[in-house]
Amino acid sequence: MKHLISPLDLSPDELSDLLDLAQEIYSSPEKYSHCCAGKKLATLFYEPSTRTRLSFEAAMLNLGGSVLGFSSADSSSAAKGESVADTIRVMSFYADICAMRHPKEGAPLVASMHASIPVINAGDGGHNHPTQTLTDLLTIKSLKGHLDGLTVGFCGDLKFGRTVHSLIHAMVRYPNTKFVLISPKELQVPAYIKEETLDPLNIPYEETTNLEEALPKLDILYMTRVQKERFFNEEDYIRLKDTFILDKQKMQLAKEDMLVLHPLPRVNEISTDVDDDPRAVYFKQANFGVYVRMALIMTLLGITVD
Ligand code: NCD
Repeated sequence: MKHLISPLDLSPDELSDLLDLAQEIYSSPEKYSHCCAGKKLATLFYEPSTRTRLSFEAAMLNLGGSVLGFSSADSSSAAKGESVADTIRVMSFYADICAMRHPKEGAPLVASMHASIPVINAGDGGHNHPTQTLTDLLTIKSLKGHLDGLTVGFCGDLKFGRTVHSLIHAMVRYPNTKFVLISPKELQVPAYIKEETLDPLNIPYEETTNLEEALPKLDILYMTRVQKERFFNEEDYIRLKDTFILDKQKMQLAKEDMLVLHPLPRVNEISTDVDDDPRAVYFKQANFGVYVRMALIMTLLGITVD
């Protein structure tokens, strides 16, 4: 049995098959509408979510399966002190597959060690968010046509932003990827990502605090929210939250075919006057998230459709 805990749990070939399947489901959804009949997905969410949880549920419902779960730690026995290990042992009787989001880094990994069903990491603290990465890759592949040779700018909270960490790990596997890491000094990409991934693989990257200067170089601009819930100190959050705001005027500096992605939720970092720009694809991205999760559920359950 396989789990998806880190974005690298899928080999490049498995990932490519999964993205192909997601594209196939996107073009012929009716062909897949009953393939998970009788199967149940449990969504175990110990942290807030809108898109991730509901796109998982929509994905399973679109496949003809059913869903159960909880959407906050307060409404589960975690509030009584139950461990993740005990919860998942029991969930293994109730469901065929589960998606877990948890504020503690590593909690879904612990769950996978005690589960007898596939466990999907739906976000663990400031660490990883592999299904957002699958969503991002499907968005880029579908709208750009390829995943290699791209200069990707990440902008915002690169320290706590788990979507950034996971997408960096996934993108380094494609030839000729370059990164421009745009953040305040306090919110730079963690040292472990540079030391364990970017430097050993000789991936070209630059770090900057200047969005305007970076914009003309980029094929993809990945905007992120400053992760309020991971700050120790409210003053720091207030000082840093509006460092970068992408607006219509700044978009004039970008290439005509640059894509703007954002995992959402957006707070202030993209002005709503950018939403009508054809390069702004963050709502399309949220839609792709359903199809990639459909493909992932099928893959982990070993379900195929001829
Ligand atoms: C992201 C997350 O939870 O990390 N949201 C999401 O799943 N689409 C990004 C964020 O919360 O800023």
